[in-house]
Amino acid sequence: MVSPYALEVRGLTKRFGSFVAVNGVSFQVRPGEIVGFIGPNGAGKTTTMRMCATLEMPDEGDVLIEGRSALEDPRAARRRIGFMPDSYGVYPSTTIREYLDFFARAYGLRGETRGRTVGEVIEFTKLDGLEEKLVSVLSKGMKQRLCLAKTLLHDPSVLILDEPAAGLDPRGRVELRELVKALGQLGKAVLVSSHILTELAEMCTSVVIIERGELRATGSVDEVTRRSRKRAAVFVRFLSADAPQIERALLECPGVTSVRPERGGFLFDCSGSQEELAVILQRLVDSDLRPVEFAAREANLEELFLSLTEGKVQ
Ligand SMILES: Nc1ncnc2c1ncn2[C@@H]1O[C@H](COP(=O)(O)OP(=O)(O)OP(=O)(O)O)[C@@H](O)[C@H]1O
Ligand SMILES: [Mg+2]
Repeated sequence: MVSPYALEVRGLTKRFGSFVAVNGVSFQVRPGEIVGFIGPNGAGKTTTMRMCATLEMPDEGDVLIEGRSALEDPRAARRRIGFMPDSYGVYPSTTIREYLDFFARAYGLRGETRGRTVGEVIEFTKLDGLEEKLVSVLSKGMKQRLCLAKTLLHDPSVLILDEPAAGLDPRGRVELRELVKALGQLGKAVLVSSHILTELAEMCTSVVIIERGELRATGSVDEVTRRSRKRAAVFVRFLSADAPQIERALLECPGVTSVRPERGGFLFDCSGSQEELAVILQRLVDSDLRPVEFAAREANLEELFLSLTEGKVQ
């Protein structure tokens, strides 16, 4: 039977000596899906991605590319995978076109096909007009696009992008996000890691959250949000300036777990059900604190990340 997944990670474990960097991690990416791979520094993202890209041997587990084991046949897997590492070398004295042409040759593209493919990836990554620029003089954003272009030369079905947005300015990040979305629309399975969590929320169909080598959560952003301990943050502002009394009153409300001052008011966490919010608001209105603002919002990916992980680095 053909696997519904383009990339399937099964129980991956990687030890460096006695240190367990990745511990029994499993998740799947379907064609057209863009999965955000989130975790604090040292969580094991790069190690997991390198194992997916056949650059690191797992101690346990397997990586299936379109249903076939990458461990059993790494050469076949490499033809289907495009890996963009978090740091990479560029040959400074070549131009963009020469650089891409070199890698296209390495991928075995010949003659007209090679010229056409190089042209296509240049156009896709919006490097057109820059073909004759030396790689050494490219800005960070152009280098990232060039590296992505290189990753796409052999038309891989699975893309593994390790922090592609790192170091990009806001415009560069928006452009990269659009490119990644376009790749998803082309039917490619994309696994993308980043620390820029709000960026991931906008481009990802689902997220995999990892900490200290272990999975913390997987699913769509909505599912993970629903399952997390903290589901909503509510901003409230009062006419009353009695901060201790306000904090006490909020903490006495059902479901409120924490309160902190923010922008002239307070932010509190609760489970976020509509019934609960209604009870809390009623109580505040009935108190002599005189609320003037009450705005509930879903926890965003950043808050979710902080609530799911403990912030411990390994
Ligand atoms: N070759 C290695 N030898 C020993 N330890 C390693 C090796 N590679 C990674 N590690 C350790 O494994 C852990 C996971 O590292 P990894 O680079 O996968 O984390 P990461 O999630 O990518 O972090 P970051 O967000 O900083 O890129 C870290 O504690 C790291 O020190
Ligand atoms: Mg990393």
